[in-house]
Amino acid sequence: MLESFERYPLTFGPTPIERLGRLSAYLGGSVEVYAKREDCNSGLAYGGNKLRKLEYIIPDAIALGADTLVSIGGVQSNHTRMVAAVAAKIGMKCRLVQEAWVPHEDAVYDRVGNIMLSRIMGADVRLVEEGFDIGIRGSWQNAIDEVRATGGRPYAIPAGASVHKYGGLGYVGFAEEVRAQERDLGFAFDYIVVCTVTGSTHAGMTVGFAADGRQRRVIGIDASATPARTRAQVLEIACSTAALVNLGRDLSEEDVVLLEDYAYPVYGVPSEETKNAIRLCARLEGMITDPVYEGKSMQGLIDLVQKGYFPAGSRVLYAHLGGAPALNGYGYTFRNG
Ligand SMILES: Cc1ncc(COP(=O)(O)O)c(C=O)c1O
Repeated sequence: MLESFERYPLTFGPTPIERLGRLSAYLGGSVEVYAKREDCNSGLAYGGNKLRKLEYIIPDAIALGADTLVSIGGVQSNHTRMVAAVAAKIGMKCRLVQEAWVPHEDAVYDRVGNIMLSRIMGADVRLVEEGFDIGIRGSWQNAIDEVRATGGRPYAIPAGASVHKYGGLGYVGFAEEVRAQERDLGFAFDYIVVCTVTGSTHAGMTVGFAADGRQRRVIGIDASATPARTRAQVLEIACSTAALVNLGRDLSEEDVVLLEDYAYPVYGVPSEETKNAIRLCARLEGMITDPVYEGKSMQGLIDLVQKGYFPAGSRVLYAHLGGAPALNGYGYTFRNG
């Protein structure tokens, strides 16, 4: 579906699929859990899901003659770290707006993890006192205008690289990659579990898996705590991406499965259950998930298996999208492990 789109390689290639045998056994053994390790997809600043998206966005930035990538996220945004890394790699400047999306007070929250890495990579990082919102932001538009006013040639990348005409393509590619890996494995996954916030990861998967009728087997775990907004954004991006790749069929609300039960208390703050899911997965598999995104989808996966949501014998693929650097901002939370 992606042959006609230019791709700038930023990743190592297909990501490994790993069987999580000890977690599957702990959860009763009737469901087999696997992880697709998008968190290990690149040598660029610890990698993660944004790189698949940026592979299809960067050719546009280069073609337009941009010299500065401008993007936005929360203080501990993984996405802005990835934009900073890509800018360094391709020799562009980087301007980042980091909003106060998370009501989290850790003494070093704005000095460690993702934001520290972005600063080390030379990005111009500006902190802004705006709250959480996955939509298009005034602070980001101001940053674009400022770059232009000082003689730069900005290229605008929205939060999560999501509301961008090419934002959904990368995860269409994920589905195609999974299909190829399934041929080698000799079986197909029954469900795919993915963390959803700004929406283009889930949307791309919806389109990619719709090609073989599995779009409703993509189980989004909301981590935004504004699920109506996120669901609408996933559907919007899925529809525009479907048109872009000529999917040849319409997608409707029923094609977007988004579970709302795990994002509490708010975006970026882990519940006790999320913290326990992070510990369990780390202690059984040595696999690190974070308090903002993957810990919440891991909590969802664990709860769904325990509740019998997946029929016995199901093979479930957990998309591990990255995000571990943010853990550094939660040192107090995990001071005793
Ligand atoms: C580690 C991680 N997991 C999941 C997500 C959610 O992906 P999306 O914003 O495409 O819904 C993000 C980014 O927002 C992320 O950084």
